[in-house]
Amino acid sequence: MGDYTNMSAYYDVIMTSGYYDYDQIVTQLMQQADFRHVLEIGCGTGLIMEALAKRRPDVEIAGIDLTQAMLNIAQERLKGFPNVSLARENVTQMQLSHPYEVAFSYGGVWYFVFDGDKEPFMVSHIPDELGNLEGLARVAAHITPGGQLLLGIQGPHHDYQKPISNGMIYGQQIDPHPDGFIKHYYLDDGPHRVMAQTVQYRTYNFAQALTMLENVGLRFLNPSRTGHQFLAFVKSNP
Ligand SMILES: C[S@@+](CC[C@H](N)C(=O)[O-])C[C@H]1O[C@@H](n2cnc3c(N)ncnc32)[C@H](O)[C@@H]1O
Repeated sequence: MGDYTNMSAYYDVIMTSGYYDYDQIVTQLMQQADFRHVLEIGCGTGLIMEALAKRRPDVEIAGIDLTQAMLNIAQERLKGFPNVSLARENVTQMQLSHPYEVAFSYGGVWYFVFDGDKEPFMVSHIPDELGNLEGLARVAAHITPGGQLLLGIQGPHHDYQKPISNGMIYGQQIDPHPDGFIKHYYLDDGPHRVMAQTVQYRTYNFAQALTMLENVGLRFLNPSRTGHQFLAFVKSNP
């Protein structure tokens, strides 16, 4: 299951060394949807929530995550924002007090990979089929009718290593798996390996993903993804 405890202490320095552009993610989020109440699924250390809260103090921003060590960092980061709340939840059993106009996940529990002309596919941090079905149903139950689920778009994963801003070397290695792939993350400080984490990801082809989402009442909204950093799914009216 997608536990990020091992990586948590180094997550921010890895991600802010060029892995993600958080301001750009938030710009796209605000361009693609209108909301007063928004929920991030798999919010991690709260980097997206912070960038959003700075720009939208008028919006209620909630975040859930499975990994307590990630949430501890998010709690510290976001303590100055009264419009932000965090909860430790596994999305497969998520129970929140009210629904949201928009739920989104970027590199969180689910995302889509687009790789040139190849068929896009969906990646999930949840390794088992039932967990994915339950998780998507819980997400749909937390979106208001007419509201949206936005799932981030990423490029293909590949093996590499590179220096990050603190001088350490970040590396990742992808191994195939019958249900998707396994990704090994590591961080080296000179000869010392200071972090190693392995996550198993499940993948679904595009048609399978759209069917799973449709089955919980979430219909694909933006066939043209030009310039978009998220795919949008609209919650049908009951
Ligand atoms: C790559 S991080 C992304 C964090 C954040 N969205 C960002 O962009 O920095 C993925 C996060 O998803 C969380 N996660 C994985 N499986 C989960 C689940 N079943 N329920 C809730 N969170 C989950 C992990 O704990 C981790 O913090």
